Amino acid sequence: MDQLKNKVAVITGGTSGIGKATAVDFIKNGAVVILTGRIQGSVDQTVSELGKQARGIVSDAGKMSDLMSLSQKVQAISPKIDILYVNAGFGKYAPIQDISEEHFDEQFNVLVKGTLFTVQQMLPLMKEGGSIILNTSVVTEIGMPNSSVYSAAKAAVQSLVKTFASELAAKKIRINAVSPGPIETNYFDRSNLSPEQIKNTVAYVIPQVPLARFGQPEEVAKAVTFLASDGASFIHGTEISVDGGFPRIK
Ligand SMILES: NC(=O)c1ccc[n+]([C@@H]2O[C@H](COP(=O)([O-])OP(=O)(O)OC[C@H]3O[C@@H](n4cnc5c(N)ncnc54)[C@H](OP(=O)(O)O)[C@@H]3O)[C@@H](O)[C@H]2O)c1
Repeated sequence: MDQLKNKVAVITGGTSGIGKATAVDFIKNGAVVILTGRIQGSVDQTVSELGKQARGIVSDAGKMSDLMSLSQKVQAISPKIDILYVNAGFGKYAPIQDISEEHFDEQFNVLVKGTLFTVQQMLPLMKEGGSIILNTSVVTEIGMPNSSVYSAAKAAVQSLVKTFASELAAKKIRINAVSPGPIETNYFDRSNLSPEQIKNTVAYVIPQVPLARFGQPEEVAKAVTFLASDGASFIHGTEISVDGGFPRIK
């Protein structure tokens, strides 16, 4: 339980779901965690729940001014970091005829612009031998109805993993992604789907998952912790799926 002893980690979107579960697992493994979220109250609440190895910063991953001031705020807590988990995000759903420019911009701002500039801004703080993990999604592999904008944004993140992997190798910084399948979190809160549509989505997904259930955020966290640890020292530029076999196995 000390895979991350003496390491400092930044987790974006660490107040709920996968990000929060990862913060808990990093702390269990000995790390100090600096987490972000958009809302002061939920950042404070999470930090107080997680205890003395947790710190919090209010920062909106979809806002350029926040992205540009993040490194200064992190540095005020720790001059250097070992681990960066870029996780902040949400999925908004709509069929093609209902997609607005606002919907498109909102998703690409948080997921693509947010991911790219978080990595750019945190890089100068990262120690040699550090590890970056990006959050992608199974949705890029399945052609799921109503998910075109979200899926395209996550596909862009998958692409960033490969390009950054070639650029960061010289700095001895590893970068990988963890691709969650359906995971039980607050994910549907901002999805634009009615309770009925959420029920139908769950009913559409579960029969396609060989393990026949939604995953838990803690199950994603374990994979992120592994990639963050020295145990993954030769893993670089790839993606680990945590999705119960969905959608590769029938
Ligand atoms: N759950 C799934 O089935 C699933 C599957 C594949 C991928 N994912 C991805 O996993 C990541 C985490 O989602 P989750 O399922 O854990 O959902 P969640 O429980 O809703 O957690 C989302 C987290 O991201 C934060 N966040 C959202 N927008 C943000 C922004 N603009 N700036 C900073 N923080 C922001 C939220 O904090 P605040 O709202 O307090 O700011 C919260 O901490 C997302 O990237 C999502 O796309 C989820």
